[in-house]
Amino acid sequence: MKKLIFLLVVLAMKAVAQDSNTISITTSNAALIFKVGNNKRIYQSYFGSKLSNAAYPDKRIEAYVSGGMDFEFEPAIAVAHIDGNPSLELLYQRHKVENHSDGSVETDIFLKDMVYQTAVTLHFLSFPEQDVIKSWVSIQNNEKKEILLNNYASAMLHFNADQYWLTQFHGDWAKEMRLQEHQLTSGIKIIDSKLGTRANKYQSQHFFLTTGSQPATEDAGELIAGTLAWTGNFKYLFEIDNKNLLHLSAGINNYASTYHLQSGETFTAPAFIFTYSNKGKGLASRNLHNWARKYAVLDGEQGRLTLLNNWEATGFKFDQQKLTSLFDDAKKLDVDLFLLDDGWFGEKYPRDNATTGLGDWKVDKKKLPDGISYLVKSATDKGIKFGIWIEPEMVNPKSELYEKHPDWVLKLPNRAENYQRNQLVLDLINPKVQDFVFKVVDDLFQQNPNLAFIKWDCNRTITNGYSPYLKNNQTHLYIEYTKAFYAILDRVRKKYPHVPIMLCSGGGGRADYGAMKYFTEFWPSDDTDGQERIYIQWGYSYFFPANTIAAHVTSWGKQSLKFRTDVAMMDKLGYDIDISHFSKEELLFSQQAINNYKRFSPIIFQGNLYRLASPYEGNRAVLMYSDQSKNKAILFAYNLSSRYREVFSPVRLQGLNPLKQYQIKEINLMPNVKSAIAGNNKTFTGEYLMNIGIEVSKTNQEPLTSVVLEITATN
Ligand code: DGJ
Repeated sequence: MKKLIFLLVVLAMKAVAQDSNTISITTSNAALIFKVGNNKRIYQSYFGSKLSNAAYPDKRIEAYVSGGMDFEFEPAIAVAHIDGNPSLELLYQRHKVENHSDGSVETDIFLKDMVYQTAVTLHFLSFPEQDVIKSWVSIQNNEKKEILLNNYASAMLHFNADQYWLTQFHGDWAKEMRLQEHQLTSGIKIIDSKLGTRANKYQSQHFFLTTGSQPATEDAGELIAGTLAWTGNFKYLFEIDNKNLLHLSAGINNYASTYHLQSGETFTAPAFIFTYSNKGKGLASRNLHNWARKYAVLDGEQGRLTLLNNWEATGFKFDQQKLTSLFDDAKKLDVDLFLLDDGWFGEKYPRDNATTGLGDWKVDKKKLPDGISYLVKSATDKGIKFGIWIEPEMVNPKSELYEKHPDWVLKLPNRAENYQRNQLVLDLINPKVQDFVFKVVDDLFQQNPNLAFIKWDCNRTITNGYSPYLKNNQTHLYIEYTKAFYAILDRVRKKYPHVPIMLCSGGGGRADYGAMKYFTEFWPSDDTDGQERIYIQWGYSYFFPANTIAAHVTSWGKQSLKFRTDVAMMDKLGYDIDISHFSKEELLFSQQAINNYKRFSPIIFQGNLYRLASPYEGNRAVLMYSDQSKNKAILFAYNLSSRYREVFSPVRLQGLNPLKQYQIKEINLMPNVKSAIAGNNKTFTGEYLMNIGIEVSKTNQEPLTSVVLEITATN
């Protein structure tokens, strides 16, 4: 008997030993396979659709390539040792697989340089149901002295295809997330940010990479969608080598950021998040949405507050009376919350414009004699919640804060100060500054326990960056700043775990999954022109669920109020407009629209998004959300710069049950306007709607008109 047990144990050990040469990171539909070579290096043998027989290729290319050895292209990691040796040979030690109670599976692969003892762990967290993988590394210095990290990518992936297509998103203030799609050619393409705080201002950290003869469409094509969970400088490097292999490395930008890793210390890189789809971008987006709501966004599976904001309506010019009258407007509209924007603070230097007061978070008694508490109480008495704007990482030189603590700002010695919007960035790396920023938030909640919402703004990038606190360690500035930002947010969330906070950055400069675990939503752009917003929200919809994308109806743009409302309703609806200028019809329309929104927001927030007609491909944009049970859906259709009597073909819907009957009803109509949609109030099978489709524009196809359809299963 003992012999038999011994034999079984030996056999089992053998099986483990054999298996341990192959490390599989899998989700429901994707597989990322690594193999350990005889030389103990670890190779990526496969990445793509999960195969049923698991017969993956033997080995391909070193998984996480280190610099200074034999690789002839850009390495994922490059280390300089204290003796000057600039190389690293990472050899497999062991790996560990752990099933977490939240459904995710973590695989850690431990590698080590046997000469210098530098230890690198490749971490993979896979979310099988959502088809998403999070991947990052940690690097441990086991030498006696510091080592220099010159490259330290979070992840490296290799692809082998005839052609590669990159879909990237770029922009600037008021023109965020513009889609650009092009073929990658041999050599290097880099997308990065060096902006520090408002890191996404010009380039966003979200992309699609398609393999195949053309870029993926919504429903076809093999691709990954990738994004980095980091609210700072990022870098993606796509390199096509002599054999037409593509090597992708993703991580923190190493620009001006050589990292000095002390003996015994571990550097942990932020997570690169990716999803694989062989059915186009639509599926990739739905994967990310499902994952983000459950795992990555604060309260991602909860509802959101509709609101009235005063920024566009009043700017800095308001007083107590004006604000309380706006509470009545919020009530009239029947939104949940009033959000007081910039301009409420500053004693010695009142914040009457963008030149003064930033940093002095004491109420401006001239504008608001009874303080914030009075406003919170008066809003609460009127039956609405109250929220407030802050920009706690910044300071105007004309402020008491700056006068008291000139050494609390990032600025170069021996150089003139450099301003953006008349402001400087606080040196968050200094623990005293972290305490200060935390206190800004804490005091607001302590003094106003009913405060229900915060808008956290950030209106400049880091230029001329130098941290007085870091002294001789300036190459850590960008990294330590972002870590300090997270440290403050950790404290805030520990004390106030669920208060909704919107992340704003002079528009959409800071939308990323590093931050979204602390925030419930982000502000995508100051550009709220209805037509522009379709493109901007379209861009973000590829990577973020609708409940994170704040969308406000304002007076930007020449489109009708209906058009602008219909655009804002496809994401997280709010208002930032003086409703005293509304006609009777417009007010009634808005009240009905908000009512419709309250009925439909659970589907918009938690349902499946299908982008049906792209504004980048024609003169219209059409998308729909259907609920998980396929009983209810809502469709938004916008005519853009359509031509006179332009012919639009019927749109085939998605996400319905072919066997069910659905009634189509146009909603969000102006009072006394009748629907001109041919299918209005008619019933069709899901099969019909998904194969033949329906017309979703009015018969005369006027530009800048929109249609919202409610789709309800009747059986
Ligand atoms: C920039 C934001 O994007 C705006 O919404 C507004 O809050 C202003 N800052 C206030 O200064």
